[in-house]
Amino acid sequence: MNVQFEIERLRSELHEHNHRYYTLDTPTVSDYDFDQLLKKLEQLESEHPEFFDPNSPSVRVGGEITKNFETVSHRYPMLSLGNTYSTEELQEWIVRVQKLAPDASFVCELKYDGVAIGIRYENGALTRAVTRGDGTQGDDITANVRTIKSIPLQLLPPFPQDFEIRGEIVLPHARFDALNELRESRGLPLFANPRNCASGSLKLQDSADVAKRGLDAYLYYVLPEAVLAPNHSESIALAGKLGFKVPLTDDKFIAKCTSIEAIMSFVEYWDAARKELPFDIDGVVIKVDSYKAQKDLGFTAKSPRWATAFKFKTERIATQLESVTYQVGRTGAITPVAHLKPIWLGGTTVRRASLHNEDQIAALDLHYGDAVFVEKGGEIIPKVVGVDVDQRGDQASTVVFVSNCPECHSPLSRLEGEAQHYCLNESGCEPQISGRIDHFISRKAMDIMGMGSETVALLVKKRLVKTPADLYELSYEDLIQLDGFKEKSVLNILDGVKASKHQPFERVLFAMGIRHVGATVAKKLVRHFKSIEALLAADKETLLAAEEIGEVIADQLIATFLNPERLVELQRLRHHGLQFESEVQEQAVDSPISGKKIVVSGVFESLSRNELKTLIETLGGINVSSISSKTDYVFAGEGMGPAKLKKATNLGVPILNEDEVRSLLSL
Ligand code: IVH
Repeated sequence: MNVQFEIERLRSELHEHNHRYYTLDTPTVSDYDFDQLLKKLEQLESEHPEFFDPNSPSVRVGGEITKNFETVSHRYPMLSLGNTYSTEELQEWIVRVQKLAPDASFVCELKYDGVAIGIRYENGALTRAVTRGDGTQGDDITANVRTIKSIPLQLLPPFPQDFEIRGEIVLPHARFDALNELRESRGLPLFANPRNCASGSLKLQDSADVAKRGLDAYLYYVLPEAVLAPNHSESIALAGKLGFKVPLTDDKFIAKCTSIEAIMSFVEYWDAARKELPFDIDGVVIKVDSYKAQKDLGFTAKSPRWATAFKFKTERIATQLESVTYQVGRTGAITPVAHLKPIWLGGTTVRRASLHNEDQIAALDLHYGDAVFVEKGGEIIPKVVGVDVDQRGDQASTVVFVSNCPECHSPLSRLEGEAQHYCLNESGCEPQISGRIDHFISRKAMDIMGMGSETVALLVKKRLVKTPADLYELSYEDLIQLDGFKEKSVLNILDGVKASKHQPFERVLFAMGIRHVGATVAKKLVRHFKSIEALLAADKETLLAAEEIGEVIADQLIATFLNPERLVELQRLRHHGLQFESEVQEQAVDSPISGKKIVVSGVFESLSRNELKTLIETLGGINVSSISSKTDYVFAGEGMGPAKLKKATNLGVPILNEDEVRSLLSL
C-alpha cells in the first residue's frame, strides 16, 4: 500500500463526512465509524510526519499554539454596513439605490451577531483566515479557524483556484450557556454575551481550547475575483456546493424581495422569530442581488452602497423597582443593584439590574416602587434606562445612595472626579476579605484545587482565614469541624494549598491582588526584576524602566509596598515557602538563544514541541508563532509546511534542523 495515497484517501473521505455532518446535517456514517477512520489517519500521520498537511481533518482537534497573532493586510478592505432603523429610512435607501441602478432587485438575509472573518483558499486548500481588525489589516487567526468544523479545510471540486469568502463566526446559545455555567461553578468571570465569547475564543493561544468552544460559521459574501455566478444569491448557493454552510433561497433564511413590503415582512418575521434561533442575530441585511448593479452602485469610504442593515431595536421592557441593594467588590467598590419584579427579557428572566453609581441614580431621579424601563445591552446584567414618572405615586420616596458600607458599616468614601464609592475598611470588611481570597485561589492566580468561593466564604465567616497567608496555616482539625466537610474534601483542600507553593513568582505576584497588577503586568515585572527583593528596592524611576510599567502602576506598587499590613502578609507568604523569585536560571542570560525570537515548526524526534518551547523559554529565548524579518531562527522539525519554508528562505532567516538545534542548545 502506498502510504501517501492512503493518507490522502482517508483525508478526502473524512472531509466528505465532516461536510455531511457539520454543514449538511445528513451524516452517512456512525460516529464510531468516523472515529475509527480518524484514528487510522492520525496513526499514519504520526508515523509519517513528512506528509504533514495543515488542512488535514485531524487538525480539527487543534493543538497549534499562537503566541502573537500576526497582523496582515486584507486584499480588499473589510467594510462595515450602513444602518437603517425604520421603514422610512429603508424606503429612502431603496430610492437612492434605484436612482443609480433602476433594475436592482433585493435579497434579504440574517445579520449574524458574531465576529467577521475573511477566509482564503488557494488551490482549494484553506490558507488564511483573518479578522476584520481596522478594515485594512486584521489578525491572522488561521490555526484557530481551522478548528471550526463547519468551515471546510478543503473545498469540494470543482473549485476556483483563488477564492476568498467572508462571513461571521458565532457561538451558539447552547455552547455559550454551558460555558458560562461551568465558569460560574469555578468562580471565573462570565462572558457578557455570545459575541464577546466568540471573539475571545478566537484569540485563545491554544487552538485545542478553541476547538472545545464549539464555534460555528455562516458565510455571506464571496469576493469579486472568484465570481461563481452573476448575482449574490446564486453565488451563495454555489458556495454551499464548495462545502460551506449557507442559507438557500428555498428556506426562510434568505429571500429575494422585489418590494419594500416584502422586505419589511422579512424584517418583522425575524424580529419575532429570532428568539427561536440557536444563535444571535441583530438585524437583517438587505443587498442588491446583481453584481453588475452592485458595481454600478460602488462603495462609500466605509460601506457598500449596494447593501444596508436593518437593525432590530434593543429590547426594552417596563417593570417595577422593588428595592435597591449595594454590593461590595474585592477592591471595596460599591455597586448599587436594582431589584425588580421578575420579567422575561431577551430570553431570560430578569430580576436584577445594575444602577452603576450614585450619579446614575440621581440622573434617573429614581424612587422606590417606580415603573422602570429595563434594557439588555451587551452586558450580562441588564440596565435601568428610564423611569415612567407618570406612574409614580405621591408618597414615593427618593432612592438615596447609602453613606455607610452595607456589610461592615464603615463610612464610604468617594474620591473627587470619580463616580464610584469605596469602603476603605480593607481588612475588616467581609466581602472584601473573601473577594481577595477568591482572587488568590483563582485559576489564573494560585489555582488552588479543591476550593471554591463557597468554601472561602465559609472560612471567612468562621474566622478561620482573613488573608491568603492564613490558608497556609489551616489544619485538618480546622476544616473537619465545618458543616458538610468530609475527610476526602478536607484532604483535597490541604493538598491543593500545599501544591500551590510551587506556583511561579509571577502567579504569586498576580494573586496578591495589587490594583492594576493583572496577570500580564505581573509577568512583565517578574521578567524584569526577577525577585521580590529587587522589586521592593525599586524606586519609581527603576519601576518605570520596566517594559509596559507606567506612572499609575509604579505609584500603586510603591504605595502597596509601603503599607505595613501588606508587608507583614508578604513576609508570612514567604515564610510559608511561596515562590518570590523567578525560576528562569541565570545561565539563561548567556545562552546562545537568549533574547532571540524563534519559530518552532514541524515534528521533532527527541522531544515534543511543547518540551522544546519550554526549553527555549528557560534558556531565555522567545517563542513566536509566525515568521517575519525579526525572527532569529526557525527550528524546523520533520514536515515543516512549504509556505513557512519559503517565507523563512526568502527572508534569510536561518533554518535549523533537529541535529543543528540540539547542537545549538548543547543537548
Ligand atoms: S455583508 C462589503 N451580510 O455586520 C460588506 N454582513 O455591521 C459585506 N454581518 O461588516 C458585509 N451578517 O461583519 C453582510 N448577512 C450579512 C451579515 C453581515 C453580519 C456583519 C459584517 C458587517 C457588519 C456590519
